[in-house]
Amino acid sequence: MQPLGRSILTNQLSVNMSLKDSINIERLPRHIAIIMDGNGRWAQDKGEDRLFGHLHGVESVRNIVEGCAELKIEYLTLYAFSTENWDRPADEVSGLMELLVDTIRNEVPTLNKNNIRLHVIGDMSMLPDSARKELQEALEETQLNTGMNLVMALSYSSRWEILKAVKQIALDVKSGHLDPETISQPIFQQYLSTCELPDPELMIRTSGEYRISNFLLFQLAYAELYFTNTLWPDFRKENLYEAIIDFQNRERRFGKTAAQIENLS
Ligand code: IPE
Ligand code: IPE
Ligand code: MG
Repeated sequence: MQPLGRSILTNQLSVNMSLKDSINIERLPRHIAIIMDGNGRWAQDKGEDRLFGHLHGVESVRNIVEGCAELKIEYLTLYAFSTENWDRPADEVSGLMELLVDTIRNEVPTLNKNNIRLHVIGDMSMLPDSARKELQEALEETQLNTGMNLVMALSYSSRWEILKAVKQIALDVKSGHLDPETISQPIFQQYLSTCELPDPELMIRTSGEYRISNFLLFQLAYAELYFTNTLWPDFRKENLYEAIIDFQNRERRFGKTAAQIENLS
């Protein structure tokens, strides 16, 4: 007989393998966006400080970046800090910012080893000068990588981004560089911080909250939304595979009828 611990491990491995094997690699989402939520509750459930939860959330980030890169997902956007999160208690804000910037900086060798290019979207003017400089260095050090694009949404909110785009459009019209008649959806998109990215096809939110919290409001127009009760520090590759399998079982209709979609396929 196998020792109990070993058989649990073997079962767990075979569950993981079969989940991963159930993914249709021909129909992967090109772009996955994740609202990484629940770090505070995860820590508080354990009688720990909220920052302890953020620290463990970093482990999930590593695991999910690796999982997406292994599947050859082209774009992964992670919502790490919203503009509204600046209003949290000062010690949480400073601790979390430090953790995020340090982690990004320390992960650069791993990103380079795995050919992952880093992008950051958000209001960088809110960040301390030193953090902005460190992020800029990390962006430059990965800019030649041609594999997965990892987009960190840091000090980001969608309303901030849309307002910024509208202001820039108004300036370009005023200076004569843009004819208002020519403003189309693709042109508007060029003014967003996600101008280089395709729209996310799958949006995952952890921790049982059913809201968007100011994340990619324009870009998520036709994303499939996946909500799970799992708290972010517990979220691992198997949870990602479950979300992708769920996505692959959906019929994406884009306003058409089911019959029209069937005729197309
Ligand atoms: C997500 O976890 C991380 C950030 C929003 C920065 P939270 O810190 O929001 O955790 P909960 O939602 O309070 O549990
Ligand atoms: C959304 O989570 C922002 C991030 C995950 C970075 P929040 O925890 O800030 O969202 P709300 O306040 O519950 O909507
Ligand atoms: Mg939260």
